Amino acid sequence: MKFPNKVNLYEVGPRDGLQNEKDIIPTEIKIKLINKLINCNFKAIEIGSFVSPRWVPQMADSDIIMDKINRKKLISLPVLTPNLKGLQKAIEKKVDTVCVFITASESFSKKNTNCSVSESIKRVEGVIREAKKNNIKVRGYLSCVLGCPYEGKVSYKKTADLSRFLIEQGCYQISLGDTIGCGTPLEAVKLFEAVSKTVNIESLAAHFHDTYGQALSNIYAVLQMGVQTLDTSISGLGGCPYAKGATGNVATEDVLYMLNGMGISTGVKLEKILEVSKYINRYLNRMPSSRVAMANFNK
Ligand code: HMG
Ligand code: MG
Repeated sequence: MKFPNKVNLYEVGPRDGLQNEKDIIPTEIKIKLINKLINCNFKAIEIGSFVSPRWVPQMADSDIIMDKINRKKLISLPVLTPNLKGLQKAIEKKVDTVCVFITASESFSKKNTNCSVSESIKRVEGVIREAKKNNIKVRGYLSCVLGCPYEGKVSYKKTADLSRFLIEQGCYQISLGDTIGCGTPLEAVKLFEAVSKTVNIESLAAHFHDTYGQALSNIYAVLQMGVQTLDTSISGLGGCPYAKGATGNVATEDVLYMLNGMGISTGVKLEKILEVSKYINRYLNRMPSSRVAMANFNK
């Protein structure tokens, strides 16, 4: 078994974590959460989305947040930009990285971005081109890679082709999203095998939601293949508003605990993460879905 010595944790809590919260969270709370995460030494924290506020009301204040957080040069603070309107805002706010998101599932594409897969390809082509002109890095997401809430199985080959397309357009990394957290380890391995035929494994990130409790096992499996970037969400918050029943990403605390136990370094300290986890759960008035946070809750 061969594991990497080092892994990048890409924190998605402020975006993927909070976007699914029904009650609007005050902007000040989101800013405090992000500032606390910034102090945890992540290399990248996805802070929000420049999407239509009618589609995702919780993310309507992402531009204000971008103005008010303690931005630091060495920490990348990406936002989601589904179209040129979102990208325009990213340019105005001097965002360093934007994320585009597509999927091989026709139904999910329609539900999530109101367009067909081929229309989404044209849309993101424009976004990537303009981003590059403005020296903004672009990260690409592929959703529903291990299953779609509307169509069931999604072709790995189609996901691989779209991943290659995004890399050819200029994305620096492709994050493979198990949006509804239905995948199991051998499926995850087959998917990463299929995609790594067309995209270097070092350019792939794993984005596992934990709906069926499989995320840590999936991560353990793909780490052995050379995956070096893992998307995680503080306290396991989140889900996608257009994937009914999907719960949060794998919890940052749980992944960090496992990586620490395996001697894989991340530069992030578990004690600090646990404090941030406590902060957001106190605000939300709920117990964390992270097992590691639960084990430490009353300490
Ligand atoms: P549409 O309704 O077809 O857009 O939505 P439109 O161009 O017809 O515009 C409709 C209205 O939205 C207009 O306003 C636009 O100005 C406004 P009106 O004139 O009616 O007042 N609008 C915007 N406002 C602010 N920012 C924008 C923007 N664009 C349009 N960027 C659209 C198409 C793509 C905009 C919409 O479907 C959308 O915003 N979708 C985003 C959905 C989303 O954020 N989903 C969750 C994130 S993806 C995810 O969670 C998966 C991931 O985690 C990986 C995984 O787990 O798989 C990444
Ligand atoms: Mg997600």
